[in-house]
Amino acid sequence: MIRIAPSILSADFLDLAEEIRSIESSGADIVHLDIMDGNFVPNITFGPMIVKQIRGLTKLPFDAHLMVNEPLKFAEDFVKAGADMITVHAETEKHLHRSLQYIRSLGVKAGISVNPHTPVDFLKYVGDICDLFLVMSVNPGFGGQKYIESATEKIKEVYNIRKELGFNYDISVDGGVNDKTLSKVVEAGADIVIMGSHFFGKPRSERKALVESVKKV
Ligand code: DX5
Ligand code: ZN
Repeated sequence: MIRIAPSILSADFLDLAEEIRSIESSGADIVHLDIMDGNFVPNITFGPMIVKQIRGLTKLPFDAHLMVNEPLKFAEDFVKAGADMITVHAETEKHLHRSLQYIRSLGVKAGISVNPHTPVDFLKYVGDICDLFLVMSVNPGFGGQKYIESATEKIKEVYNIRKELGFNYDISVDGGVNDKTLSKVVEAGADIVIMGSHFFGKPRSERKALVESVKKV
């Protein structure tokens, strides 16, 4: 069954505790944390301090999506703050294989993300030490952008590489996922959909129904 990971990038930060609780009470599976440095991407969000503060609000796993240059400088801080998965961008890593090994050595799952223009054939060489592969379906930096159609083919490619080479990573899709794009993302092979604006754009009372409808696709 498809899992859903709401991104708190689109949450109401003045009421963050209730927003986090609504992720759990809606039946969603993972809390997606978009970490931006104003350098790798043209936006700045939050760091380990916020992650630590919200950690006590839910038992759900935290996926830290690091859209930062030199992410390994911060990986341990995010693990200490309570992240269960650390996802780095392939574009920031000169030695991606080593980076994934290092993240696993911190005792958490190691994820790779790719920007829309980045091919995924390298996955053949690191798929055995990757727990999560995150296909960006928008240019990272902002919530509420339009789904980039070429992502669908890329999800299929990531799915086929997993099948052909017997890898075990989860496939997640991030950006522009809503009721119109969801079915093609799932059909292409996604295991996890990340939803920012579509989830938090709904009143809290409607989020449970949204999660149920996602799980039926
Ligand atoms: C973009 C982030 C996404 C974003 C998704 O840089 O990685 O997680 O929050 O937001 P929506 O679902 O609004 O496209
Ligand atoms: Zn993200």
